[in-house]
Amino acid sequence: MTLLIGSANARVGFDDGLAILRDGGSAIDAVIATIRRVEANPDDHSVGYGGLPNLLGDVELDASLMDGRTLATGAVAALKNHQDAIDLARTVMDTLPHVLIVGDGARMLAAESGLPERNLLTPEAEAIWRARMADGAEGAYQRRMRELAARLSRDPERPLDAHGTVNVIARDREGNLASGVSTSGWAWKYPGRVGDSPIIGAGNYADNRWGAAACTGRGAMARRLRTAHSVVIATRFGLSPDDALTVAGQDLLALDAPYASDVNIVAIDRDGNHGAISKVPGKTCVFQREEMPSFVERKRRVMTAG
Ligand code: GLY
Repeated sequence: MTLLIGSANARVGFDDGLAILRDGGSAIDAVIATIRRVEANPDDHSVGYGGLPNLLGDVELDASLMDGRTLATGAVAALKNHQDAIDLARTVMDTLPHVLIVGDGARMLAAESGLPERNLLTPEAEAIWRARMADGAEGAYQRRMRELAARLSRDPERPLDAHGTVNVIARDREGNLASGVSTSGWAWKYPGRVGDSPIIGAGNYADNRWGAAACTGRGAMARRLRTAHSVVIATRFGLSPDDALTVAGQDLLALDAPYASDVNIVAIDRDGNHGAISKVPGKTCVFQREEMPSFVERKRRVMTAG
């Protein structure tokens, strides 16, 4: 059974991903095709072109992917001036004896690979950044970030400050699994800040033998708990995707940190059974099997403490 599942903003790429699965293509190709479309979407301010910038107004992208057939992985972080972060992650996976390339090296590899340069800061994203910087308190970065995080992140009037990120998991006709994540990261982040998205095991993980999982949300928490890997390992020990996600949610809720549980997770097992969880009631994910005419948006289960 083929399946594509991901965060709700992945929907803009589902036609591309499904076309690959319907042609008998691979899960990893479907993941990349789906995410590539999201990276090109200027209306998504959490991924690729149009993403919100760091404190200095530079858009920095992080992405990673994993091929569940081989456990091969590739990732890039703090990539500037190239929107195709997920394609570059694949280049790392396929052509280098490394798994993660950051900053200037990532930009150099993108240029060498022929990926087009682009100013990723759209006029709309720049206007949002300027407005936020203008109404922030003066002073040291740390104080400003604390104030901004406290004021903005819980404010329903300012949804653009929420964490975004796109993640996608695919299962192809051969039963192969793959996962991928791409993000512009935490808006107004400290330059060079890297979250969970390019860290395999934190932001996503795929292993044909057991399952796959991928996260969005506050990446520091998924990094502390290696959330994606922990969900896959739980399926290894016989838990259903729903039960594995419940355990991961309990671990997140037990963290003694502000916003600790603001992580959203999608997961599948090797047979394509799937689940999704969030702390935020009403948050959704999207999924589609090849025989379905269009994707279905479904509410995620809400995390509960253990
Ligand atoms: N999960 C995306 C980030 O924290 O950057």
